[in-house]
Amino acid sequence: MHTDIAPLTARRHGPLKGRLRVPGDKSISHRALILGALAVGETRILGLLEGEDVLNTGKAVRALGARVERHGAREWRVHGVGVGGFAEPAAPLDFGNSGTGCRLMLGAVAGCPIAATFDGDASLRRRPMRRVLEPLERIGAHTLSSSEGRLPLRLAGARDPIPIVFEPPVPSAQLKSAVLLAGLAAPGETIVIEAEATRDHTEKMLVHFGAGVRVEPHGTLGRRITLAGQPELTPQPIVVPADPSSAAFPLVAAVITPGSDVILDGVMLNPLRAGLVATLIEMGALIERVGMRNEGGEEVADLRVRAGALRGVEVPASRAPAMIDEYPVLAVAAAFAEGTTVMRGLKELRVKESDRLAATVALLRANGVTADIAGDDLIVEGRGRAVGGGLVVTHMDHRIAMAALVMGLASEKPVKTDDASFIATSFPGFVELMRSLGADLR
Ligand code: S3P
Repeated sequence: MHTDIAPLTARRHGPLKGRLRVPGDKSISHRALILGALAVGETRILGLLEGEDVLNTGKAVRALGARVERHGAREWRVHGVGVGGFAEPAAPLDFGNSGTGCRLMLGAVAGCPIAATFDGDASLRRRPMRRVLEPLERIGAHTLSSSEGRLPLRLAGARDPIPIVFEPPVPSAQLKSAVLLAGLAAPGETIVIEAEATRDHTEKMLVHFGAGVRVEPHGTLGRRITLAGQPELTPQPIVVPADPSSAAFPLVAAVITPGSDVILDGVMLNPLRAGLVATLIEMGALIERVGMRNEGGEEVADLRVRAGALRGVEVPASRAPAMIDEYPVLAVAAAFAEGTTVMRGLKELRVKESDRLAATVALLRANGVTADIAGDDLIVEGRGRAVGGGLVVTHMDHRIAMAALVMGLASEKPVKTDDASFIATSFPGFVELMRSLGADLR
């Protein structure tokens, strides 16, 4: 289903102006389809992200027996089969580029007495799955075949799922969510103890669907999440807010392109997702939050962003979970700041859609910016400007492609990407929306 390679070039071309709404949140969209499929009856989803990653999750739950239908623009309905009710799929489940879709569905299948084959594209086949298989095996699932914890793999779900206490070895909402989704089918309490809190969309949506979930603080940064097993999930309407990880690209583009003034409507500001906005404000960016409100259980606001001078800052490792997907574009902002920006504790970036630590440094260096990796830290020497002129290799990574194009909108020379087609995994319409602000993307 993935479209052909599409090189794209961004050029500086005056200020960005206008108002837009980025598509629905990817994390919430995956979860809406999955919990809808595990509920009994019809779940209505408004504003679903129609990106390739989410559409692949929709196909997977359909192959497992749920009915998934589109009703007009971005309204979707899912008829679920109930917790533990998935049917064995006839063919391998293909998650394309999506680690989230694959890992969450490994959890959902692990609680059902069926076997399924999980696969993905070349990028997803390189990403670690052992970290999620380990707790799922403790719950009672079996890995029937996999090459060194990579896709393609075949998983047999548990016949009698066992509730476990799990402490994720790395801060990961995907791991936490996989265990909670498998734990739905187990009797008794499944407990996840996070040393550092990660995005809490799974917990919140489980509560919304009527499951018993208790969330308590754990240490200074962590949380202890207790799920009461075998709930009957009751379908609830879901309104998907605008994705802050997609808003990040027009946001940074407006901050670094002189004279810009842009409004981004209804951006989700869940505190566990809002690290980029906080960091940019520390750097001196002119970002106003207007009309704070609650939409579908999440805080949202319109963000008015104007271009202005930035200064380098130190971003603590403790902030990484709240902005894990935003480092490539933050690194671009850092190049346009005056002074050094140090982003600490980015080990997890090495196992994203690409090795994002390496890809981000390569992106910056190709465009005349001094950048280095020290241990797990990324250091960018900001000079208030960037030369540009580079060709950025995107490694099947949508966020590297968008970050490179944002840089090209403000650098002295154009920035080229070898392949922008993967942008469609998370941000369909990116090029058109950026052009509507005045961006020159060709
Ligand atoms: C996601 C969690 C994050 C993030 C990904 C989406 C999710 O991954 O990078 O884009 O929806 O749970 P990890 O949980 O592995 O850090």
